[in-house]
Amino acid sequence: MAYQYILVEHMDQTCVITINRPEQLNALNKQTIQELHDAFEEAGKNEHIRVIVLTGSGDKAFVAGADIKEFANFTIEEGKELSRAGHDMLFNFIEKMEKPVIAAVNGYAFGGGLELAMSCHIRLVSENAVVGLPEVSLGVIPGYGGTQRLARLIGRGKATELVVSAGRLAANEAVQWGLMNHVYSLENLKSEAMNLAGKISKQSPAAIASALRAIHAGFVHEQTGLETEIEEFGICFGTEDFKEGTTAFIEKRKPVFTGK
Ligand code: CAA
Repeated sequence: MAYQYILVEHMDQTCVITINRPEQLNALNKQTIQELHDAFEEAGKNEHIRVIVLTGSGDKAFVAGADIKEFANFTIEEGKELSRAGHDMLFNFIEKMEKPVIAAVNGYAFGGGLELAMSCHIRLVSENAVVGLPEVSLGVIPGYGGTQRLARLIGRGKATELVVSAGRLAANEAVQWGLMNHVYSLENLKSEAMNLAGKISKQSPAAIASALRAIHAGFVHEQTGLETEIEEFGICFGTEDFKEGTTAFIEKRKPVFTGK
């Protein structure tokens, strides 16, 4: 299949999917989300493929978030739909894959970028990476599952601190906090991901699929949280703070929030 914003390569039994919009720091616009969905679906169906590695192109960013320029003028309904479509098409879709998905986080992973990494089953990170959920600095909230998956990975207290302060973690801290599994030099990140994929490929695909289904089953109660996230994400699009936050980003200035 021909894609505009992603690259797909097969290396032995691993499918490597690379998000390829480096000039926009691989920000997730609607088309990229659709293309990622299609590539994951295809890799899921391909009997030869045992593992999927997801990374970003360039040496600066994995993904700098959802595409702020694309959604800055959205209405409440459009905001809600953006969030719901993302959940259904990509973030929940990856989490429910029956083949392990490894995120090789090769730089900034902010907002939707960190949410994308958190949807993957295993996360490796490069030393230069900085990660966080800065949405409240734009007058919005994490809308691709971050409010649920961050708390699950690092606990409610630390997740709340990171979300409400728009905090950022360096790669080493992210490993200490349990958000990332291992840190490697940027140079070695992809080969380490491929080594891990190679080890996984030697195991029973049927047993791995069972293990992934069983692990996922333990988190089904999060559905209510994910639904609430979609509603609240949409509500943000009707606030003056959202207009100010997104306009300030586009105008490359600091926002002044009023709480309205
Ligand atoms: N959306 C759209 N464009 C983005 C972007 C994003 N999330 N992140 C970066 N870009 C663009 C910049 O606008 C810039 O484009 P132009 O050259 O056309 O102006 C280009 O990528 C390079 O970015 P910077 O010049 O800003 O690079 P930098 O090195 O100075 O800063 C950065 C890097 C700290 C990551 C900064 O780009 C940044 O803060 N980005 C936004 C991070 C963010 O807030 N992410 C959350 C998005 S909201 C979200 O994800 C909602 C959700 O949960 C669904």
